[in-house]
Amino acid sequence: MKVKKIFLPESELPRQWYNIMADMPTPMEPPLHPGTGQPIGPDDLAPIFPMPLIEQEVSQERWIDIPEEVLDKYLLWRPSPLYRAYQLEQYLDTPAKIYFKNEGVSPAGSHKPNTAIPQAYYNKISGTKKIYTETGAGQWGSALSFSCALFGLECKVYMVKISFNHKPYRRIMMETWGATCVGSPSSETASGRAILEKDPDCPGSLGMAISEAVECAVGEETAKYALGSVLNHVMLHQTVIGLEAQKQMKIAGDYPDVVIGCSGGGSNFAGLMLPYVLDKINGKEIDIIGVEPTSCPTMTRGPFAYDFGDTGQLTPLLPMHTLGHNFVPEAIHAGGLRYHGMSPIVSQLIMDNLIRGEAIPQMETFNAGVTFARTEGFISAPETNHAIACTIREALKAKEEGKEKVILFNWSGHGLVDLAAYNDFNSGKLGDHELAEEEIQRALDDIKELPKPKQYKG
Ligand SMILES: Cc1ncc(COP(=O)(O)O)c(C=O)c1O
Repeated sequence: MKVKKIFLPESELPRQWYNIMADMPTPMEPPLHPGTGQPIGPDDLAPIFPMPLIEQEVSQERWIDIPEEVLDKYLLWRPSPLYRAYQLEQYLDTPAKIYFKNEGVSPAGSHKPNTAIPQAYYNKISGTKKIYTETGAGQWGSALSFSCALFGLECKVYMVKISFNHKPYRRIMMETWGATCVGSPSSETASGRAILEKDPDCPGSLGMAISEAVECAVGEETAKYALGSVLNHVMLHQTVIGLEAQKQMKIAGDYPDVVIGCSGGGSNFAGLMLPYVLDKINGKEIDIIGVEPTSCPTMTRGPFAYDFGDTGQLTPLLPMHTLGHNFVPEAIHAGGLRYHGMSPIVSQLIMDNLIRGEAIPQMETFNAGVTFARTEGFISAPETNHAIACTIREALKAKEEGKEKVILFNWSGHGLVDLAAYNDFNSGKLGDHELAEEEIQRALDDIKELPKPKQYKG
């Protein structure tokens, strides 16, 4: 009998996260202090993160126990189902088998609560009263708002202004979960005011919103900051996705030849692929692809260099693929992929040729999203459409080559709060944006003087 979806019983929920740091072929270079340029220690991070998260950020332990209180909350939607996309396969007339992990079933509608829940939990047990954060299109902000509500914490979210103005429903979700949400850049912070002074109509960026949230967190004793992607502890928490997927693929009787995830800061991609990277290190052949927009081509056109995580230069310098902290991407609808940097773990794995990046233009991603909606039914987040577009490319390649490849991709979130984007697409208002090399070089001028990692690649 054909099996469409594979559920795991609750008893199969992973009890530990997988920490790739124990198995990285090349040791990661340390974050540097934004002022001194020297490697930072746990105390430097203490004003913004609680100590258990700082410990996870630098941990070399391969397996890290998931606290019972976190498992309890995960059970609201985990284990998430794995689907076989039969109708999409049939439509593409491909010999490839396509599987997707449905992370859109969480209360906030994406993979983001996988880390929002533990981050809220560790803050709660460390005495934090309020968490500040940033959000792009609102997925991370809503995930953290929901998680803070469960643990009785206050939450304030700086939302990139273009999304704040165009996508009110995410703000309403955050407010329903009890959080406060303001458009960024705002006049509430020094970094926001500095940006507005130069450009009162600034559409905002994740880098700017991070500056505002960090500034607030540092200024209040019982407040902390939370980041929804990029950092090592976030990648760690997201590995529940891949660990579940491995069990489900085993039940399906298949092993993936290709693993795909869209990649903004890298967290849903890492969550699915890191356990498979371990398999690859141990000899398996897998093509592991992170997909980004051509208008924000961090992995495919950015150097591997030290850069700030934010526009205001408040965060530590991280060794990563970057387009420069002042790069403001075109206002595409995949707000969660509009980030100038990339997770250092994802970046290092690219440098080690274990995974690779691929850039896809906006129109191809929306065409893929619509094809997916008309075959598999689900309407995907604009970010997720990047993974679907790459999956379609790979499935068509398999058809050309006459190969029965197994493709596994991460369906990182639903698009039911992104219908304005589909409206623009359906009414012919969307287009592609060619990003000129000079534009990238101009943004990279701002990081020329920063220290370089040993493996610097320009
Ligand atoms: C549904 C969805 N997918 C993907 C992303 C990209 O983030 P990351 O690369 O951290 O998974 C986002 C970010 O907001 C998102 O909302």
